[in-house]
Amino acid sequence: MATITYLTTIEFGAGLVSGLPEQLNALGIDRPLIVSDRGLEQTGLVARIKALAPEGAPVFTDVPTNPTEAASLAALKTYKTAGCDGLVAIGGGSPIDLAKCVALLATHPRPLEQYAAIYGGIPKIAAVAPLIAIPTTAGTGSEVGRAALITLDDGRKLGFISPHLIPRRAICDPELTLGLPPYLTAATGLDALSHCVETFLSPRFNPPAEAIALDGAGRIWRNLEGAVANGEDIDVRAEMMMGALEGGLTFQKGLGAIHALSHALGGLKEPSLHHGTLNAILLPPVIRFNAPKCGDKLDRLKAAMGLDPSADPAAEVEGLNGRIGIPPGLKTLGLPEKVLPWVIERALADHSHATNPRQATAEDYRRMLEAVMV
Ligand SMILES: [Fe+2]
Repeated sequence: MATITYLTTIEFGAGLVSGLPEQLNALGIDRPLIVSDRGLEQTGLVARIKALAPEGAPVFTDVPTNPTEAASLAALKTYKTAGCDGLVAIGGGSPIDLAKCVALLATHPRPLEQYAAIYGGIPKIAAVAPLIAIPTTAGTGSEVGRAALITLDDGRKLGFISPHLIPRRAICDPELTLGLPPYLTAATGLDALSHCVETFLSPRFNPPAEAIALDGAGRIWRNLEGAVANGEDIDVRAEMMMGALEGGLTFQKGLGAIHALSHALGGLKEPSLHHGTLNAILLPPVIRFNAPKCGDKLDRLKAAMGLDPSADPAAEVEGLNGRIGIPPGLKTLGLPEKVLPWVIERALADHSHATNPRQATAEDYRRMLEAVMV
């Protein structure tokens, strides 16, 4: 038995961002709140997209690296003050997730916490304000994903999950990723790979999603180094964007221990850790932990990625990480040992924990983290 829904309307292709006015019209949005971040504002992209929106559309760019409840409430205030009737999110996962949170709170009473998946919030989420997502990285998958990851004021990074949170339109224009610097290309690309790997290995029954995840893993594996080495190649960028989109189209299978840990680590105020970088570092130890419970799936994954049948997929990812400049471990990122018990406690409570193919205990999580405390 399986409920399988595919999923929303995706406009995919170079230059398609210019079709934003038609997409706004199709959804009946007259006054969108444009949500992005400061970095994209500085590149001029936000102004370019604002010029495509109805005149006077307000812009909110105060989005932290890991989006917070406080920032969501600030954006909600702008949304309400300006009389908005929908949102356009431009960026990586942070602006898109924050916009999802605003779309939720614009139509549902507070407090936000009651809608968190782990507190039984999924059925409390009904229709939300319409959102158009325009990804500028090939990583998050949030443009077609049903989750928003938001850090509450006390540091808990919680997943808000509902089919209603899937953006009504995703405009995937690979031209928007041409300027992504090599390091962000690498880290966001490995986030996308981790989505394909984790959803494929998830025990939930959903063969169509598994086929998509395998196709995504192959595209990312074949193209990530090329995208890092030559960011101006539009064909390679399009392959990466499709791989990341496919990773997002499979979220309904659930993620696993990589994301349980990276959500926990991403909730820390200090050090503030990048989601993609964390997943890149966590991929090898989690693959090793899961291997005994994967049946033939690692063989199928290797085949999809074009790896030799005798290859060790965890070692292959370690090799790739080294070649494209991912830091060797969590200590290098400034993570102190003393926070590990809190991280493990949060990982055990995370919504991704339950769909890991091998159930992890606190001790298992400790071993996985210690393997990358370099
Ligand atoms: Fe992710």
